Amino acid sequence: MNLFDVYPLNNITITKANGSYVWDDKGTKYLDLYGGHAVISIGHTHPHYVKRITDQLQKVGFYSNSIHIPLQLELAALLGKISGKNDYQLFLCNSGAEANENALKLASFHTGRKKIIAFRKAFHGRTSLAVAATDNPSLVAPVNQTDNIIFLPFNDSEALEDCFKKQGNEIAAVIIEGIQGVGGINVASVEFLRKIRSLCDQYGSVYIADSVQCGYGRTGKFFSHDFAGVNADIYSMAKGMGNGFPVAGIIIAPHIKAKHLMLGTTFGGNHLACAAALAVLEVIESENLMENAAARGNEIMSRLKEFESLKNVRGIGLMIGFDTTESNASLKKNLLFNHHIFTGEAKPNVIRLLPSLALGEQEINTFFEAVAGELQISEPTHSA
Ligand SMILES: Cc1ncc(COP(=O)(O)O)c(C=O)c1O
Repeated sequence: MNLFDVYPLNNITITKANGSYVWDDKGTKYLDLYGGHAVISIGHTHPHYVKRITDQLQKVGFYSNSIHIPLQLELAALLGKISGKNDYQLFLCNSGAEANENALKLASFHTGRKKIIAFRKAFHGRTSLAVAATDNPSLVAPVNQTDNIIFLPFNDSEALEDCFKKQGNEIAAVIIEGIQGVGGINVASVEFLRKIRSLCDQYGSVYIADSVQCGYGRTGKFFSHDFAGVNADIYSMAKGMGNGFPVAGIIIAPHIKAKHLMLGTTFGGNHLACAAALAVLEVIESENLMENAAARGNEIMSRLKEFESLKNVRGIGLMIGFDTTESNASLKKNLLFNHHIFTGEAKPNVIRLLPSLALGEQEINTFFEAVAGELQISEPTHSA
């Protein structure tokens, strides 16, 4: 049997990983500034993480949500403490798309309404509502098309206000990434997030903070939406939550009440997933990884800005993007194949950095030596 061919692949096979590094089957060592797409939060194969999952596997790996799973309560308590959202309620699932799907569905249950506001260049996942709220027609199958999603320009408070004035009483939810990831690292402004909060309050709509990529401490705050100083009603989480173990969830403000069976899942919140998620939070806390993400991110951004030919350096913490130009259009490929450094991208010309929150000074220096080397080749006058 062949694999269903949906991904363009780099011809690399990873067989070993540790911290911010991975090794291929030929023993070549790579610096991982992509974090397997923002997933590796505490570093590959962190010993505490490996031990917690292994110990749990020796006891019980899975039983269904029809019984008590105290690890879920332990996870909810620690998540509440570290995120500062102690009074929120946790629902666990398996992927980012599923988290957003549940968030949107819950907003509709809660308000009795059908319309969702999403934004240009948004990416919320590939399941039916999540993909309908994703601004990329090539991902949307005919069956996913719906008039219930309204796309508005990102960071445009006037357009948002206009929309609410016209049909605010039909709006179930506004869903927004705190920093658009797949869309190319676009930071939602504080003013815009506050406007969403106040319009949702005024019209009884639900503010959903898609924190799948920008959350879990990556920006130095637990949720990047927190920079606006207002709370969302629902936060969706995935990627960094399990450091590679598939675990996701939404946290839900106390005024949104649960009813039996409105949401459900077979695998969500299983014993192993909770052990992985607990290990991640324990390491984030004990190793001060949010502080590290903020400091390393600031350093990387200010050093990137020294390169004239790297444009529009942007982001917060360790969620960083910059544009390449015609003269250095092959930078991403060259970093990978000449210097063995993984980075992310967003079409057409954005390089995204989404490393582990435990990234160190040595890794940053290695990256900048490589960048300087590459840019001198394509830009001989550069002095860095
Ligand atoms: C902001 C955002 N939301 C949702 C998703 C979907 O997550 P998953 O691929 O786990 O379904 C992604 C994935 O890249 C994402 O970046």
